[in-house]
Amino acid sequence: MKKILILLLLFLLSADLLANNSQVEPRGSNYDLYSSRSSTADEDFIRYIEKNFAVTPDDIREIIANFHSEMRKGLSGQESSLQMIPSFTDVAIGKETGKFIALDLGGTNLRVLAVDLDGAKGIEISGVNRYVIEKKYMEGTGEELFNYIAECIDNFMKSNNISYEKKVDLAFTFSFAVDQTSIDSGKLISWSKGFEASGVEGKDVVALLNEALRRKGIKNIKVAALVNDTVGTLVAKSYEEQACDLGVILGTGTNACYREKINNIKKWKGLAPKSSNMIINMEWGDFDKISVTYYDREMDAGTINPKEHKFEKMISGMYLGEIFRLVLRDLIKRDIIFKDENAVNLFDKQWSLKSEFMSLAANDKSSNLGAIEVFLSEQGLKKSDLQSRILFKYISSLIARRSARLSAAAVSAVILWMDPELERKHIVGIDGAVYERYPDYKGIMESVFNELFGDKSKNIVCDYAKDGSGIGAAIIAAVVASEEG
Ligand code: GLC
Repeated sequence: MKKILILLLLFLLSADLLANNSQVEPRGSNYDLYSSRSSTADEDFIRYIEKNFAVTPDDIREIIANFHSEMRKGLSGQESSLQMIPSFTDVAIGKETGKFIALDLGGTNLRVLAVDLDGAKGIEISGVNRYVIEKKYMEGTGEELFNYIAECIDNFMKSNNISYEKKVDLAFTFSFAVDQTSIDSGKLISWSKGFEASGVEGKDVVALLNEALRRKGIKNIKVAALVNDTVGTLVAKSYEEQACDLGVILGTGTNACYREKINNIKKWKGLAPKSSNMIINMEWGDFDKISVTYYDREMDAGTINPKEHKFEKMISGMYLGEIFRLVLRDLIKRDIIFKDENAVNLFDKQWSLKSEFMSLAANDKSSNLGAIEVFLSEQGLKKSDLQSRILFKYISSLIARRSARLSAAAVSAVILWMDPELERKHIVGIDGAVYERYPDYKGIMESVFNELFGDKSKNIVCDYAKDGSGIGAAIIAAVVASEEG
């Protein structure tokens, strides 16, 4: 009976942690919860997990300080886990015109859009096609991958009656770490997010795309701009909201870009841009001045890029489900959850638990956690007990909460870098399924801003920037096209 009551309390607390925007510190509150009663080995272990996944205010202050020193090093060309890549562009003024194809390659989907800009910030999307990038292309040769991309472009041109004669400018959103060499060229530094197509790292991805287009017989497309998804997101959002100076992706991967004064980019050797600002693609997924748990290390060992993208692997959708699976599997092995012999092999398969299920668990507000019960039965556990389902939801919330608090720490670091006293309003354009779909992800981020900045936290506004990356890239392509005349 006592155990049921405690688990019920745990359930209520976990629901509250996610629903509440106020400053709830999981480590403190649950520590009290546990220490107020005689602990058993199981409970001690759960407490240990809770501590492992907590991100305390002190941790956040340390992350901010480390972000600043890594940013400084990255901007001056010294070795740093933040690459701070100049994008060769700034936000646009809003007078851009023309018709563009936007090609957006970021995760498992490839999107192609036809974008019309009217010169007064009006944007019309006259066609959107989505294509799935199958595993065989992600893991095959670069030539096969780019041939497939060219095939998708060809299909898009046909289905949207786009001319094969007249010159068409294409904006290429390529959401990987690229050493940008001009606005329309850049070499892939390293793949991430499950991609490992051979022969692409170190090569100019625009040249690879051009070659594939020629092989396909498409001669009239000119790649006008090569853009990271964060940069596209920032440019698109700042079209609507002038105060937007930070673009963030919280999806399959995570990254951010912001507007930097050209004088601060010590490694910049090119001409000063007209606006005297340039957007910097931080590649913050690579940030590595942070400690990880045993489960993170185990997950990392099973990725195609072990030891890389450490921060991204604690935050983004590609990895959260796998971390959750590893914790669950451990709890099952220790006989702490699903104490049923049918559960022994549950969650044994690597990468089988998708991060979406964490959103599903968080959204299950029913008293018997019915949606979780159905999910578990689909996984092969025909019968599950309520206590285990409560614990399932709670553990998931700890991992998601860590992700949101880390994202908020990183956003805070960049804003403080731009505006140390937080004197002006900063709109943060954010896109990505983790941010969009995990219930109250935004609320958890805001509670961190509140913890750090009190009243001044109202100067940080997170604003959803749906599918901005392709549109932003088209806007940049328009700037380039107008400069070229
Ligand atoms: C990965 C890529 C980065 C991209 C991010 C979000 O971290 O390296 O370029 O912006 O994913 O898609």
